[in-house]
Amino acid sequence: MNRWRDNGLHYGRVTRLLHWAMAALFAWQFLGMGLRLALGRTPLVSFFVGTHASIGLLLMFLAALRALWGIFNLRNRPAHGTGWIGAAARLGHLALYALILCVPLLAILRAYGSQRGATFFGIPIIPGAPQKLEWMVSLGNAAHGLLAWALLALVAGHIAMVFIHRHVWKDDVWARMAGRQLQAAE
Ligand code: HEM
Ligand code: HEM
Repeated sequence: MNRWRDNGLHYGRVTRLLHWAMAALFAWQFLGMGLRLALGRTPLVSFFVGTHASIGLLLMFLAALRALWGIFNLRNRPAHGTGWIGAAARLGHLALYALILCVPLLAILRAYGSQRGATFFGIPIIPGAPQKLEWMVSLGNAAHGLLAWALLALVAGHIAMVFIHRHVWKDDVWARMAGRQLQAAE
């Protein structure tokens, strides 16, 4: 059995690694921005905020990789199920993908358009535009934070659904992304 690829019963190692590493990095981003809102500028908050753009750039890269890997594995992923619950799960996952791609992209556009650019732990990755591009800055200002909080709300719903699957409906949804990989009829 190839444990690296997804199959009809479970997600493989690559998908799991991307899922859990990104979940940890998102938790870091939201913890930092949550603390900034709650505490204002303290040394602890500055530490988190100082890593925000770099971790965000890493998340942008991983989200693009994950979307490509998802497309590559589309045909051999566990099914979402039938009926409206299956449709809601498919739609929910699609919305998660849309947001994990758009949220960092909007910040990157703003960094470019504002001529500030962005660095990845000190290494310049995104240059500044030759002249200020107001629409990119306005778009980033209007939507980056807003969509990021919408993503957090969606993730909360996602975790709640995983909890319901595991403890109320007692099905195999948790085991697809964690735990022992089941043998599929490949
Ligand atoms: C997927 C990754 C990211 C997440 C989840 C995220 C999340 C957030 C959140 C929740 C806020 C607070 C909004 C508020 O104050 O209400 C914020 C603000 C900010 N983020 Fe991000 N961010 C990400 C990526 C990035 C990247 C890549 C950059 C820079 C290139 C960046 C730059 C900023 C800046 C400058 C702010 C403060 C201004 C503002 O509120 O828009 N973020 N981010
Ligand atoms: C403690 C946090 C989390 C838990 C317990 C969790 C659990 C799970 C489980 C069990 C699945 C399999 C569901 C199925 O097959 O229908 C799954 C899939 C998925 N999760 Fe999470 N998750 C968490 C955090 C996140 C976060 C932060 C994101 C995105 C920001 C996310 C995005 C997704 C997506 C898009 C899928 C579909 C599979 C894929 O394309 O990777 N999850 N999650």
